Amino acid sequence: MEICRTVEATRSTVAQLRERGDVGLVPTMGALHAGHMNLVAQAMAENASVVTSIFVNPTQFGDPKDLETYPRDDEADLAALRAAGVAAVFMPDVAEMYPEGDETIVETTQLANVFHGLVRPGHFRGVATVVSKLLNIVQPDRVYFGQKDYQQLAVIRRMVRDLRMAVDVRDVATARDADGVALSSRNKRLTSEHRAAAPVLNQALVEAEAALLDGAAVEAIVSMIKARVAGEPLAVLKAIDIVDAATFEPATGDFRGTLGMMISAQFGDVLLIDQREVTR
Ligand code: PAF
Repeated sequence: MEICRTVEATRSTVAQLRERGDVGLVPTMGALHAGHMNLVAQAMAENASVVTSIFVNPTQFGDPKDLETYPRDDEADLAALRAAGVAAVFMPDVAEMYPEGDETIVETTQLANVFHGLVRPGHFRGVATVVSKLLNIVQPDRVYFGQKDYQQLAVIRRMVRDLRMAVDVRDVATARDADGVALSSRNKRLTSEHRAAAPVLNQALVEAEAALLDGAAVEAIVSMIKARVAGEPLAVLKAIDIVDAATFEPATGDFRGTLGMMISAQFGDVLLIDQREVTR
């Protein structure tokens, strides 16, 4: 497995890999868990070679403390990627991604600034900017993201469509612990009390899904989720949004079609998110 620290080394490694066939990219911020490895497994199944990036992107963090405390474990990450058969890992430093004088940003101006974007101002601009850089550097045939980051996925799909990028965006189902908690690198930062409270997000979404399928109005579902999360004293609900999955416009009333439910809540100083898609 090649470890590339520079754009130049990555480009020359990818040029060689391309001779064997399609290249898939799995962008990550490291601290890999089974959810990331599911992305890698799908990429391995669909491409001749897989490149993974590990870069904790400073521009998508609003709070400097959140960036500082973001979990990092390069050694374990590299061992897991090697064992999975990844061909190359791009691990740049901040100056390689944001050279002196860097001033260009990429933003989906509407979609970045609604829903979860209001909880984390600037977050999706940072994500779109870094993902566009990664796509320019690796130029993969396919790029892989988890459904858990539901709005992130929508932002990236819109950016790829709007900027006419030649890449197929693939998504992979949310991986969960046995108690339903969505896997996230941030889970490592939860205290044991907050970890014990975290299943409330998935529980609220499971109940909401059942009620939606029973015909409940979207507004009633929002109240139901709010009440469920309010029943867990260690969780502070930050946002609950239900959208038309096709357009990402807010859904209302007895909307029919595929709905995307997005929820975020604070557990101590850790923000967790979860999602569910429901078709009715
Ligand atoms: O989902 C993530 O881990 C990050 O937001 C991503 C897509 C790697 C960009 O930094």
